[in-house]
Amino acid sequence: MNTRANSASARDIAYHVHGYTNLKKHQEVGPHIIESGSGIRVTDDNGNSFIEGLAGLWCTSLGFSEQRLIDAAMSAFQRLPYYHGFGGRTPDVTIELAERLVKMAPVPMSKALFANSGSEATDLSLKLVWYYYNSIGKPEKKKIISRIKGYHGVTVASASLTGLPHLHAKFDLPIDRIMHTSCPHHYRFGEDGENEEEFASRCAMDLEDLIEREGADTIAAFYAEPVMGAGGVLVPPKTYFKKIQKVLKKNNILLVADEVICGFGRTGNMWGSTTFEMKPDMITMAKALSSAYLPISALLINEEIYQAMVGQSEKLGLFGHGGTYAGHPVSAAVALETLNIYEERDIVGHVQKMAPLLQAGLHSFSDHPLVGEVRGVGLIAGVELIKDKKTKEPFDPKIAVGAQCQSFTLENGLIIRAVGDTIAFCPPLIINEVEIAELVASFSKGLEQTWTWVKEEGFHT
Ligand SMILES: Cc1ncc(COP(=O)(O)O)c(C=O)c1O
Repeated sequence: MNTRANSASARDIAYHVHGYTNLKKHQEVGPHIIESGSGIRVTDDNGNSFIEGLAGLWCTSLGFSEQRLIDAAMSAFQRLPYYHGFGGRTPDVTIELAERLVKMAPVPMSKALFANSGSEATDLSLKLVWYYYNSIGKPEKKKIISRIKGYHGVTVASASLTGLPHLHAKFDLPIDRIMHTSCPHHYRFGEDGENEEEFASRCAMDLEDLIEREGADTIAAFYAEPVMGAGGVLVPPKTYFKKIQKVLKKNNILLVADEVICGFGRTGNMWGSTTFEMKPDMITMAKALSSAYLPISALLINEEIYQAMVGQSEKLGLFGHGGTYAGHPVSAAVALETLNIYEERDIVGHVQKMAPLLQAGLHSFSDHPLVGEVRGVGLIAGVELIKDKKTKEPFDPKIAVGAQCQSFTLENGLIIRAVGDTIAFCPPLIINEVEIAELVASFSKGLEQTWTWVKEEGFHT
């Protein structure tokens, strides 16, 4: 860290609070300042270049220097730098984006609503779930079920839906009406001798039990990411969503698919819902919608939900929700250009070609004594580090083995994200063969350094 009083590091410590950062430690170590980006790489203020193995925050699908997105933003700024959607007015590009998203949805959808982040889209979806059931005369249907280790955002409602204790602790969350059911991670939660199919059935049974205990008439919706990202890249067993959806259908419970990470090619199809055969009633999306070049998120709703909203407008006089920046014309223009690029460059086809290379590269670590499980689909993957391969005993979280591996890997020119002791990979979708090989080689070095460290410190049995 540069400790000069007026250095960027010192000023960062003096003036800036970072999300998902140990604030106490940050006072000592300061920030890692990223100054520029090119392709799948970013460069820090010391001139060190890194492969961005997590695409920033699972989002910069087209890398860090896509000129077409910059040009789209510049021309949109010049044409109309701002307009809103209140009172029926709208920028033209926002209409175009809404139409495009509805038409490309994985299941029939009716309308798009816009917001600025994944959290806000989740929040809005939750409001609309309640609004819908109130509108159709079922006001008692209010409770929401999401999953342990699911991630849906940081606002009061979306953090409540998130099934990670550190998002709740001391924030007085989750709010009531929100419950969490079992996490479909076979490696960690499967019982001895239970295969994936049986485990998926047990997850569906857990859900059914919860619904029965609470009363199906009180339960409104079930929220799920196709692949859980921030919970540790957890890929559900093959039949999981089939079984879950059967339970939801039987009990008239809406399914909201959180496509904030999985949407736009990440899992090898345009939508994670397609990969896992989900048939949602609403879909949230953000991140790769604009390759994260500008903030924008969207919520797709089906016709039935829309008609209920129209009915309320007739009664109440208007739809009582909206945001100053929702459907911002510059963000919308960048999102549209992002979608154009996905189509023209067949980004889904590219992911399908690259995915086996990334997955095979990471699976080559399966036999490593530190590695418990390698999992993934498309261009998203997780490598779980473990104390005892046979018993699956994890390391004491206080040792922070994952964080240590993250630091060693950084020394080798690769940014990845430790989610506990799972190392998450989610590179820009434009990554090529050579870059995948480089990513895997850098991780290999980081993993070896971690292994040496773990043994030297006496943390491994
Ligand atoms: C699946 C999922 N949903 C929602 C969110 C929240 O998005 P945002 O950080 O844009 O609010 C995230 C963020 O990582 C996410 O991964």
